[in-house]
Amino acid sequence: MQKIFAAITGIAAYTPPDVLTNADLEKMVDTTDEWIVSRTGIRERHILKEPGMGSSDLAVPAVKKLLEKTGTNPDDIDMVICATVTPDMAFPATANIISDKVGIRNAFSFDMAAACSGFVYMLAVASKFIETGSAKKILCIGADKMSTITDYTDRNTCTLFGDGAGVVLLEPNSEYGIQDHILRTDGSGRKYLYLKAGGSFKPASHETVDAREHYLFQDGQPVYKMAVSKMADISVEMMEKHNLPADKLWLVPHQANLRIIEAVGRRMGLDPSRVMVNIQKYGNTTSATIPLVLTDYESQLRKGDQLVLTAFGGGFTWGALYLTWAYDPA
Ligand code: UT7
Repeated sequence: MQKIFAAITGIAAYTPPDVLTNADLEKMVDTTDEWIVSRTGIRERHILKEPGMGSSDLAVPAVKKLLEKTGTNPDDIDMVICATVTPDMAFPATANIISDKVGIRNAFSFDMAAACSGFVYMLAVASKFIETGSAKKILCIGADKMSTITDYTDRNTCTLFGDGAGVVLLEPNSEYGIQDHILRTDGSGRKYLYLKAGGSFKPASHETVDAREHYLFQDGQPVYKMAVSKMADISVEMMEKHNLPADKLWLVPHQANLRIIEAVGRRMGLDPSRVMVNIQKYGNTTSATIPLVLTDYESQLRKGDQLVLTAFGGGFTWGALYLTWAYDPA
């Protein structure tokens, strides 16, 4: 029987119009543009400022753009997954809200919680539905309104994050698409990067609000070290497993810190021109970094190009996914 691959057949992204620059942050906390750029590579990030808007409102313009770009009828979508750590609400799933807002009526939808690795985990899961023939068109959305869980009085974290969304369409293909994935989790790392309150373990109370526990906490150094070693190890493992040539490969890394991205590229032996980077414009948008950077590089990709996607995030979660690109630029 011929193998069916899950191919990305279209991609789109959205970031809100308001921009928060390093100069703006210099006025808010004790930081400098020089510190932020030299430690992270970030120059600005987009923030969804309009009240009454959630992560679904970042995803909807991206999904509409994708449906239009690929000429896809919402009625033909079988399945919608949204990777997010900032769902509109604890339930129902943000994917359900997005589906409703764009008129997707014949699909089942759910959210995926794998923090910054959400997009990679989601592609791996979705690919199984395509490969087994149980879905023909799947939307994989990464959407995060990180500004809602960012404490703009904490200089350790407030320079890092931004808001954004990206989406890909997955369809069956006989040749190109997702070839392999390696995914890992280590729950003992949860103490280094998490949201302290608001879940069932520590529900919201006056005390949790006063203690600013509804903003994300990160102990940066251990996360940094693990991110470099785990993303590099797993990406090299994928290269060796498939004999992927360093001179032709594209690296599509999660955008959390330019120094992490560069270190992973070096470990893989890649020329910097083969490493996709746009962290300077958007910061860390959690589940949205990979589709945002892929969208920026879409015009440079050709049918058959080999890509390794890799991410590391809260949990800890990490992974690498190897795919071949399925289409030439329009
Ligand atoms: O996406 C999910 C995964 N997340 C990541 O991969 C992020 C991993 N971590 C990192 O990217 C880095 O650890 C950070 C960018 C968060 C921090 O960079 P660092 O080089 O690890 O700095 P540090 O935490 O070791 O802090 C160094 C110094 C400290 O001062 P002292 O204690 O040495 O006097 C901090 O207080 O820098 C200080 N600092 C700042 N200074 C100016 C921390 N934040 C700032 C700031 N401006 N915004």
